[in-house]
Amino acid sequence: MQNIEVYQKSFIKYLKDFAVDKEPINLYEPINYILKLGGKRLRPVLTLMSAEVFGEEAERAMNAALSVEVFHNFSLIHDDIMDDAPLRRGQQTVHEKWDLNTGILSGDAMLILAYQLFENYEPNTFQALAKLFSKTALEVCEGQQYDIDFETRNDVTIPEYLKMIEYKTAVLVGAAMKMGAIVAKASKDDQKAIYDFGRYLGIAFQLQDDYLDAFGNPETFGKQVGGDILENKKTYLYLKTIELGSNQEKDSLLEKMSNDSISNDDKVASVKVLFNNSGASEATQNAVKDYTEKAFSVLETLNISEDKKQLLRLFGEQLMNRRV
Ligand code: IPE
Ligand code: IPE
Ligand code: MG
Ligand code: MG
Ligand code: MG
Repeated sequence: MQNIEVYQKSFIKYLKDFAVDKEPINLYEPINYILKLGGKRLRPVLTLMSAEVFGEEAERAMNAALSVEVFHNFSLIHDDIMDDAPLRRGQQTVHEKWDLNTGILSGDAMLILAYQLFENYEPNTFQALAKLFSKTALEVCEGQQYDIDFETRNDVTIPEYLKMIEYKTAVLVGAAMKMGAIVAKASKDDQKAIYDFGRYLGIAFQLQDDYLDAFGNPETFGKQVGGDILENKKTYLYLKTIELGSNQEKDSLLEKMSNDSISNDDKVASVKVLFNNSGASEATQNAVKDYTEKAFSVLETLNISEDKKQLLRLFGEQLMNRRV
């Protein structure tokens, strides 16, 4: 096994050659734009690592890894439309730089391109990858719909929230890992275990994403800080403030969220104070740790060498402590 940066570098090299140099330019340019904006590339790295964990060369999982990253970037283009987000990875979002229609259609094309990449595999592997991909992509849509539905609801529960983030985010992290295991022809038990490892890591990842959306450093975060507050998202921070806050803090949160006469900056600043004072920020950080630990305990059930487990644990720890 190699270290995490080596996987990242070899993936980025592969991605460079993927640029679609075709017409119409207005369809393909936004695709190249979003794919080259950067990002952590964590999902493809997980696919490559998983293939090697189960005894296959990472190179053989490259098209599956690319598929996952193309799908992820497609989902970001559409997510930024749905969330009315101006910034992605420190640059303009696709629908801001071009327009709404461009974001919709370039996103659609990326979804097809992601699927097409499985054609590089022999029929059995192709079928297993395509089946997992279809199931996962549909769940992501379900998660995204819950996320939007929750914006206008005031009775969202923590279990409902956990299901929403499992679908919109965690299943893709699980699938990224399972794809590596499929390419490596790992046993069904191992495929399931590595999927669950990724799924728990993905839940921790989205909890941390919620945290950073409010408390990330605007200089380095790359997205609009406070975007979730402005969109009335039912994040873990929000739900925990309702659960843990005093009556006064709860009333104040509801008042701030529905107050249209305060400026965006004042709204974000005052809601962040409530997140902190209620104990919700701390609860969110604890939940990130808990789900990372859950992922690590799944790792124990896997029949792989200790150094491979160690590398996967290191990856989980880096995700937990990330600032972007
Ligand atoms: C953002 O994913 C969308 C979420 C599921 C939270 P990442 O934080 O992995 O985005 P990039 O690819 O690194 O920019
Ligand atoms: C994104 O969730 C999930 C998907 C893209 C499917 P968010 O809306 O929290 O992601 P960011 O914060 O915009 O990256
Ligand atoms: Mg978003
Ligand atoms: Mg969203
Ligand atoms: Mg977010």
